[in-house]
Amino acid sequence: MPRFLMTDPSHYAVSYRINPWMRPEAWDAGGAGLSRRAAAASQSLARILSGLGAAIHWVGAAEGLPDLVFPANAAVVLDGRVLLARFRCPERRGEEPVFRRAFERLAAQGLVAEIVTLPDGCFQEGAGDAIWDAGRRLFWTGWGPRSDRVASDHVAATFGRPVVPLELATERFYHLDTCFCPLAGGEILYYPPAFSADALAAIRERVNPGDLIEADEHEAAAFCVNAISLRRELVMASAPASLRAKLAARGYRLRETELAPFILSGGAAFCMTLRLDHASVPKETAYDRQPDARALA
Ligand code: ARG
Repeated sequence: MPRFLMTDPSHYAVSYRINPWMRPEAWDAGGAGLSRRAAAASQSLARILSGLGAAIHWVGAAEGLPDLVFPANAAVVLDGRVLLARFRCPERRGEEPVFRRAFERLAAQGLVAEIVTLPDGCFQEGAGDAIWDAGRRLFWTGWGPRSDRVASDHVAATFGRPVVPLELATERFYHLDTCFCPLAGGEILYYPPAFSADALAAIRERVNPGDLIEADEHEAAAFCVNAISLRRELVMASAPASLRAKLAARGYRLRETELAPFILSGGAAFCMTLRLDHASVPKETAYDRQPDARALA
């Protein structure tokens, strides 16, 4: 069963500006209505995931840490190993001990196995900048605005899997998960203008041209590339019809939900969650390889 971490949005707000999408003045103007819509949006996302068979583990809200609602930035997790994030922005550093305690609780419950830390001074903002590609069995890492280039080496060393570092060229698409999403069938949904020329070359070197699906400016700005991929289902913020058509043609089904209050902070579906159960060896394959299992089948 897929497992996700999510955070109670009770203390969510847009109260500072660390990316160009964040508009504290719009949040203030929205008043209590926006808080209510955020609570409803978070519940709706959790309901969609549960409906798709996932389990949700909740982190409690913490006052003064509004961006705690984006646990994708808490850590990189693979095979039960948790590499804790280190935030570049001082505004988010207070989240580190809160997430560490959350992972310690998950470890006590047997839901993760091991917690490891980055070397001092190295910034890495979790799965937001280190996306597991289950089909290719590698991490795509984003670097530049938030995570350091060298953090990619630590991700590779920690998990023993290949890493493809991709330089993010703009402040608008400051985390890899805002502009890059591997799909279950091997396609990559991405927004090319977010990447440096070298990053685009690295993507094109590893992905067949027919598997590259380009999001346009409108689709990327609707935060629809920030999607959760569960087999043929893609959970995302309300999508432009153009994207729905593009993905339907490839056999994907969109599960859209209104996430406007979170887009006001520069985040949406993918970064409101953190997948806890990614495994470097696909479980079916390991099972299939066992002679006993084959004999029983
Ligand atoms: N306001 C948050 C920030 O700028 C949003 C983070 C969204 N997370 C993500 N992985 N895209 O850090």
